[in-house]
Amino acid sequence: MNAPVQHSILVIEDDSVLNRLLLKTLVRSGFDMHGALTWAEARARIDEIAPDLVLLDMNLPDARDFTPLTEIVQTRPVIMLTAYGSINQAVEAMRLGAVDYLVKPVNLEELELVIQRALEGTRLRRTGDALKAARKGLTDNPMVGASPAMRQVWDLIEAVADDEVTVLVRGESGAGKELVARAIHDAGRRRDGHYVAVDCCTLQETLFETELFGHERGAFTGADRLKPGLIEAAAEGTLFLDEIGDIGPAIQAKLLRVLETGRFRRVGATTDLRANVRIVAATNRDLTQMVREGRFRADLYYRLTAFEINVPPLRDRREDIPRLVAHFARARARNGRLVGFSDAALARLVTYDWPGNVRELRNVVERALILASHTGLAGPEHLPPLRDPGFDPQTPVACGPVSFHGEPTLDEIERHYLTELLDRHQGNRRKVAEAMGVSERTAYRMLERHGLKSRGEGA
Ligand SMILES: Nc1ncnc2c1ncn2[C@@H]1O[C@H](COP(=O)(O)OP(=O)(O)OP(=O)(O)O)[C@@H](O)[C@H]1O
Ligand SMILES: [Mg+2]
Repeated sequence: MNAPVQHSILVIEDDSVLNRLLLKTLVRSGFDMHGALTWAEARARIDEIAPDLVLLDMNLPDARDFTPLTEIVQTRPVIMLTAYGSINQAVEAMRLGAVDYLVKPVNLEELELVIQRALEGTRLRRTGDALKAARKGLTDNPMVGASPAMRQVWDLIEAVADDEVTVLVRGESGAGKELVARAIHDAGRRRDGHYVAVDCCTLQETLFETELFGHERGAFTGADRLKPGLIEAAAEGTLFLDEIGDIGPAIQAKLLRVLETGRFRRVGATTDLRANVRIVAATNRDLTQMVREGRFRADLYYRLTAFEINVPPLRDRREDIPRLVAHFARARARNGRLVGFSDAALARLVTYDWPGNVRELRNVVERALILASHTGLAGPEHLPPLRDPGFDPQTPVACGPVSFHGEPTLDEIERHYLTELLDRHQGNRRKVAEAMGVSERTAYRMLERHGLKSRGEGA
């Protein structure tokens, strides 16, 4: 274990109440905290404080543009504090190099997660071991998400990473199961070992066995030499079995044996070998149903489901959409021009239901970035027709059945979105909260702010 380091953070925020609240909260979490109310003050002190991280308000009285951001990002990571209703500026800020953003009023749980992730990123870069960082996949392909729903996922990853228990990652297609599997490996004790991913659906049953367990010399015609299998290739590391629902009965039986005894046998061998791997499996199938239908062994099912992580669909964590958009835009900007998203385009992305989850969002965003590269701003016209109920492709600035006048603010989008959810769930607050991936209390507060009526469970 490393000795704990005390990180220093500078909060540049002219709202003195918020500034003080952030200082107090973060001091309690063990950070060395400093505050500045203006850009002038921050600028004068930044070298003296040498903060590891800066929380920066978007609208300072003496700097209402991106000057402070572009200046600070040269030397240290910045998290933007953005006003409610200017999420687009936050996306812009991320393109300019901010590591993340927080929307006011700041959710304190989210605050900690965002800070923790930002500091982790710099720790890797500081070690200077770019190769290691790249292999860990954290700098190039970090899993983005600070919504309450994703926070739960992070907590589970951290809780289970250092353990050896088999993990089953469940979730819809494109939700990010593979990234979760990778994150478990990267966060755990086996991080320096290999991470070997096996796509179970592409391998035939007979091939699968020799691929997974290897074979002895002479095990079958053509086996002219011993070949270790993927289990051995992943020794001391992690074996990721993707699409586990697709494996046939023979492999199911053999896999169960590995999980139960920790041993396996190469094809054609007479003795067992010890499997020194941690197994993470993933599926987007309904394994429970498959067990019921006799297509998946119940005993294997129970082994696998001892520790499950459910990756929520993107529509249940819409708060992460602007964050993801910024992330994909920035990844592309490395080798081209920076492209932003108009409010209307972003509004459309936030309100769509994303049946293909993050993968679909990524494709849509990347397409828009290409189409808009000459103007530098992606609008609704650069999005493909995202058809969900009520969407009218004739009016590009439409979100569902309602058109906004001009470019809608986040406030208007939220109100509209809430109204739709209330409609869909007959005013049931718990269901609305679930759909948004927030607590019922948060939903209640949002609804109140918009003067919308909902009903609790008993009502
Ligand atoms: N939280 C995230 N942050 C950044 N990128 C993400 C995130 N989740 C998913 N992606 C991206 O979306 C795409 C799909 O993710 P992934 O392959 O992990 O999904 P999956 O759940 O394994 O899907 P499938 O069931 O189809 O295999 C990938 O390009 C991945 O990088
Ligand atoms: Mg996958």
